[in-house]
Parts: sequence; structure tokens; C-alpha cells
Amino acid sequence: MTDLSVAKTVTRQGLDVEAVRRDFPILTQCINNKPLVYLDNGASAQKPIAVLDAMDRYYREMHSNVHRGAHTLGDRATAAFEGARETVRGFLNAASTREIIWTRGTTEAINLVANGLAGKLQPDDEILVSRMEHHANIVPWQMLAERTGAKVVPVQVTHEGELDLDSFDQLLNDKTRILALTHVSNVLGTVNPIKSLVAKAKARGVFTVVDGAQAVPHFQPDVQAIDCDFYTFSAHKLFGPTGIGVLYGREALLEAMPPYQGGGEMIERVSFEKTTWNTLPYKFEAGTPAIAEAVGLGAAIDYLGTLDRVAMEAAEQALLARANALVATVPGMEVIGTARHKVPVMSFKIAGLHPSDIGTLLDQQGIAIRTGHHCAMPLMEFFGVPGTARASFAFYNTLDEVEQLFTALQKIQRLFA
Ligand code: ALA
Repeated sequence: MTDLSVAKTVTRQGLDVEAVRRDFPILTQCINNKPLVYLDNGASAQKPIAVLDAMDRYYREMHSNVHRGAHTLGDRATAAFEGARETVRGFLNAASTREIIWTRGTTEAINLVANGLAGKLQPDDEILVSRMEHHANIVPWQMLAERTGAKVVPVQVTHEGELDLDSFDQLLNDKTRILALTHVSNVLGTVNPIKSLVAKAKARGVFTVVDGAQAVPHFQPDVQAIDCDFYTFSAHKLFGPTGIGVLYGREALLEAMPPYQGGGEMIERVSFEKTTWNTLPYKFEAGTPAIAEAVGLGAAIDYLGTLDRVAMEAAEQALLARANALVATVPGMEVIGTARHKVPVMSFKIAGLHPSDIGTLLDQQGIAIRTGHHCAMPLMEFFGVPGTARASFAFYNTLDEVEQLFTALQKIQRLFA
């Protein structure tokens, strides 16, 4: 369904960034009379033409409700929607489309799992999270703890922004029932050694939930290799539309879990005597789903499939290396998060400047970054800051844009710090 012509923009020698940028129309505009430099990809990534076209075509040629089967448009919409589910299955290397649940995003996916595991918890059981989690992977567990009498226990991080593995080993114990960990930190860019941590948890019979929201824009996870029970991500960070995300769940566990929301689609039969549930994955998909958004996500994954992953990751690491090399050119600049294994995300502070002022002043130069606590207040507390400025790069960013960021930061530091 996706236009594959973009494949010609890629060579095994590397990523043709200028050609790739032409696939993202939003990047060509000026903001505040300066060419846009979009470095807020961690908050939400931009969309290629392939995604815009797929969603447009869906609405022009296929839209109807899905799984109703009475007419041709319904069949087309269902085929496109279920085709996208198969695309996601392939992307994650899940064993079956029964394990791919559409949600509104990562947040809803984690809430769904937390709700589904409620029956497995007893008072004093422990839910292990980490101090580098996004609030979406803390608060649902706190709400679950409140309901069940369980406790949420945070694994500590090091001053470099890595997960403290000694703390992990100490805290994983016989009371631990759930491990909920981010694959990649949205603030620090740290890539956690998720496979070995999941293996340790599984050896103790602990349920494992991985927040992949910040991982999937940078590399392709393999849920069978990771061997986790649940993996979640949002489409909008993966160059797809807002309003849809994915929960991967191990089939046997999803089968055993109660539904999350009740309504149409998720039932097999409704009667006042006894209502029974639909099969997977529909048991967890009450109501009319985000059909065009599923199609858009499928198109985003197809688009990424036309690019050379190795070249993309190398290009992203080159952006991070250039940024790291330029930090010393801004007096008083300090990077928060210097893990050995990082995606291209740089959180920082500059002595004498408030993060939100840095954001505003950069915006005047056409440069978009995010500032604030990044929905990670416990991590801010650990680093003793109210917030940071954060530049988060995508494969379509250029080395020239990194230079522009630092030229602007040097100027801001000179004039305002
Ligand atoms: N979680 C997103 C971010 O880190 C919104 O910016």
C-alpha cells in the first residue's frame, strides 16, 4: 500500500539524509523566519508523505467500520486495518497477530496491563520499576498498588544515567511480581540491557513489561528475543499518527487476563444471564478502533522498512557524537545522561539559564527542543534539577542542524547567562 519509491534514496554506503528529508514536508518550513530545525523528536516525530498518503487514501477509498462484513467498503477497511496489525507483528517479530493489541498509545497499553495483572497481586507483593521511568510507567503501577496493597519499588540510576545493576539485583527478590522497565529513557537516552534484566526477572517467575516508546524510533526490537511478557509503544513517536499505539502481549497471558474496557467488538455474546468475550486480540479492543491511524502506522513501518536500518543508526550516532563534541564550546553547559549505550537524545542544563528560557530563545532561532521535567519527576529529583532542556534527534536530522543548535546555544549563553 505504501509508495516504495523512497527506497532509491538509500544506499548501503549510508543514509542520503537530504533525500530522506524530502519525504517529510513539514521540515521545509520556516519558523520565526528561520529554517525549522526540529529537535523534539522524543516528544513526537514528524510524518513522511507515505503516512500522509496512506491515511488520505484510506479515507478517500476505503473508509467504513471494520469487522462488520456486510459490504465492500467494510471489507476493504478491515483488510487495511488487519494488514497493519500484521505489519506491526512483523516489526516486533511477535509470534502471532493475536498478540498485537491496538491501544491509544503507550500510556493506555501500560494501564491495560496494570489492570489485567491486578488479580495476580497480593498485599506486600512488589512491582519493580526504575527511577528513570516516564510517569506513564510509574503512575499506573502506583494505582495498581493502591488497589491491591502491593508496593512500587524503584531501581536506582547512576550519576551517568545508567540503571544501577547492583540496585536491580538487590531489589529483585521473592516478593517481586512485576518488572516494568523502559527500554530507552526519554530524558537520558540510555538504552537499558533489557534482555538480561528480563531474563533475571523471568527466572523468578516475574511478569515483565517493557516500555518501548523511546526505543522503536531508533531501533527495531524483537520481542521473542527479548522474551518479555509485554512490550508497548506509540505510533506518533515512530513517524506515524497520534492516537494509536500497540501492546504486544504473550498470548497465554493475554488469554488469562480480563478485558480492560467493555463494549462492542470485545464480546462474543451478550445476554443478561452471561456475557462472553471475543477471541484475541479483539477481547481488548472495545468500540470502533482508530482505523485510519492503524493504516498510518502500518505505512510508517513500511516506510522505515525501505531505509537501511544500519545506516540510520550510524547516522543518528554521528549526530550524537557531533553534539557531544560541541558541548565544551558552550561555557557552563552540562549534559545529564552520559550512558555508554545511548540513542541520540541530549538533556542538558546551562549555568545561569532556566531550561524554559533556553527553549524560548532557541525557538526564536527556529530550533525546536523540549524543556521541563519530561514526565520524569523522580529522575529530575535524583539529578537535583527542576527540569532540563532536551534535544532529541531523528534520522532525518543533519550534522548542520547540530551545528546550528550549538551556535545558537553559544549565543544564548553569551547574551543571557
Ligand atoms: N514522552 C514524551 C517525551 O519524552 C512526550 O517528550
